[in-house]
Amino acid sequence: MSTAGSAVHAEPFEGDDRQYSPTRLSGWLQEVYGPDRIRPEHLSRPQIADLAPRALAVHNDSREVWHANIGPIDTPQLLALHADLREIVESNRQDGNKTKPAALVDAHPGLGKSTAVRAYGCDLFRRQVNLRGDTTPGGARRVPVIYIALSGNTLIRGLNAAICRFYGLPVKGDADTLAERAVDAVLSMKTVAMVIDDIHFLAGSKSNAVRMANQLKYLSNVFPVTLIYVGVGVQERGILHEGFSPRESPLAQFGRRTTALTLLPFQVDDDEGRLQWHQLLKTIEQKLVLAEKYPGMLAEDLSDYLFARSTGHFASLMALVNRGCLRAIRGGHERLDEELMNQVKNDAAAEEARKELEAEIKAGLKTTRPQDPRRRRRSA
Ligand SMILES: Nc1ncnc2c1ncn2[C@@H]1O[C@H](COP(=O)(O)OP(=O)(O)OP(=O)(O)O)[C@@H](O)[C@H]1O
Ligand SMILES: [Mg+2]
Repeated sequence: MSTAGSAVHAEPFEGDDRQYSPTRLSGWLQEVYGPDRIRPEHLSRPQIADLAPRALAVHNDSREVWHANIGPIDTPQLLALHADLREIVESNRQDGNKTKPAALVDAHPGLGKSTAVRAYGCDLFRRQVNLRGDTTPGGARRVPVIYIALSGNTLIRGLNAAICRFYGLPVKGDADTLAERAVDAVLSMKTVAMVIDDIHFLAGSKSNAVRMANQLKYLSNVFPVTLIYVGVGVQERGILHEGFSPRESPLAQFGRRTTALTLLPFQVDDDEGRLQWHQLLKTIEQKLVLAEKYPGMLAEDLSDYLFARSTGHFASLMALVNRGCLRAIRGGHERLDEELMNQVKNDAAAEEARKELEAEIKAGLKTTRPQDPRRRRRSA
């Protein structure tokens, strides 16, 4: 440590950024076993003013990375999705000669699909290792759950390559060679579930549901695991429909073996939704580390505002709050209010939908505030 006034350089401060890729085994293990972040200490404005410049820089850096990584918050939607996934995945104890039914988490962008499914994957991973040990009887590392994500126009070969890449295996060869290699890894590392994120990127899937169903059927034939697909607008493509002509039989086969799940945006059309929104804002508010935050800063004073600006989408809400906090820290404002939030930019989709919602709220046609609990009890 340097003493005040000495010319000695201060020790470098690395910060708690965690730049791993969950689509590689080493990164996935960091997500599964990474230590919980420790919330930076809450300092009052005078305490902050008393900090030496370097201590202030460290404090602010720690707060910024903290605010960028709040969650996963256990919302009622996330808990319900986890319960459904548990039921589907963990009842799949069929022997290898039987196909295991799959799950499809299909919802609009930015609602927290990937976050929720990865959280479930991590949980299942830890529970399996706790029960069965971290080494398989064959002496390999046990990897109960793997996570891969597709990108634009992936073919089956690309998908198999992504699985090989996850396990750190070579990615040379045709689709079948890669599949064989991947199956060997699945069997030796005792993988029981595979999360395939952004499945809508499977090549041709947009225009050709039959082809997509065929490709997914191939996967379920090849890999003796529970497949958890995650994607946007997959059902709309007709993939789960009953196919009647022989050409459409892959649709029927896929539809019969796949259970569709979803995540909904937050809504304020009824009191249950308004209470959930209120609870979510309260939870976030409690986690913020700003000198002048106060109870009700988000959940009361910014409730309508944040709903209109995020349109009830998790990604937009968390981006707004995170950016607002950065602004509040850097500018010394140390609290969130409308004036500050108005300067924060947000994603294009949320901004577009915002105006309409704001107008409805202003006109009194919509509110995000739950009914007063006393009145609720009386009317119940
Ligand atoms: N349970 C949660 N708790 C806290 N923040 C969350 C939660 N779920 C989502 N978020 C926030 O929303 C952002 C987007 O979530 P995520 O990537 O899981 O959405 P998605 O539905 O997979 O989106 P896309 O359709 O773009 O893949 C996250 O980076 C995070 O900031
Ligand atoms: Mg996602």
